[in-house]
Amino acid sequence: MTDAQIRDRIDHLRRERHAVILAHNYELGEIQDVADFCGDSLELSIRAAETDAEVIVFCGVRFMAETAKILSPAKTVLLPVESAGCDMADMIDAEGVRRIKAAHPGALVVCYVNSTAAVKAECDLCVTSANAPEMIRLLPPDREVIFVPDRNLGAHCAGITGRPMIFWDGCCPVHQRMTAAMVERRRREYPEAELLIHPEAPPEVVALADYALSTGGILRHVRESAKKEFIIATEIGMLHRLEAEHPDKRFIPLTEQAVCPHMKLIRLPDLLRSLEENRTVIEVPEPLRARAEVPIRRMLNRKF
Ligand code: 13P
Ligand code: SF4
Repeated sequence: MTDAQIRDRIDHLRRERHAVILAHNYELGEIQDVADFCGDSLELSIRAAETDAEVIVFCGVRFMAETAKILSPAKTVLLPVESAGCDMADMIDAEGVRRIKAAHPGALVVCYVNSTAAVKAECDLCVTSANAPEMIRLLPPDREVIFVPDRNLGAHCAGITGRPMIFWDGCCPVHQRMTAAMVERRRREYPEAELLIHPEAPPEVVALADYALSTGGILRHVRESAKKEFIIATEIGMLHRLEAEHPDKRFIPLTEQAVCPHMKLIRLPDLLRSLEENRTVIEVPEPLRARAEVPIRRMLNRKF
């Protein structure tokens, strides 16, 4: 089948199955182009919670599909490639959260959305890179705060809110490779460009950027900016939509090495097979699902 035929078949099946195709901003261009909606983790969670589709095909990684299932348990949630995971989410498990809680009795636990359902079920509040400082400000000031699993996003939030936190020692290997030397080089090459970075990068690199933003925040910032050149310090999948939306602007990746292998697994034939064969179905068993929903609902309702 040609790509055009695959796309036609996907269109037919998405209508027949009352399915919505959600894609993360790091997915391959061919997937972003057929999705009903592309976004960052927060935007995708909101869509998953509000859609009236019967089937959600989640083109992203497992924790994102799990979050959709937690919020919409009556719907069928499909992850087209079962092995699409997140290395950072896998750096902590439920037992790890229980251990760090036991070492800090009375502390509240904030989890980055990049975590498994089992981890979320142990936590008090969920955040994404789009809302983390704002959410942390909702927490009662007299309680200690533990932040899992991303030490970099945690440090970024502590810097913005002035709130000391206890960090789990996790990170995103893709963003962790970004260095101050890369920033210096790009600044020399493109002195007029604005540097937009994802807060999963190391704090000493984030400190050198003009703005630290979620992937959705980067897209919004570029739309509103009069600047013509941007150095993009996050996963390179971001460039697809930026370039499509702004043919008059120039986007330079901080490094071409910033490729998340999990976000590149889903291709058009996988998406088609997912709709045809109903795979892979994401399940989050009760009562774990109900416990994991609590910190996510607090985030969506912006209420602690
Ligand atoms: P955003 O929520 O900013 O899209 O980041 C998600 C993420 O970490 C994927 O790596
Ligand atoms: Fe996880 Fe990093 Fe890939 Fe995002 S880019 S899905 S945090 S491994």
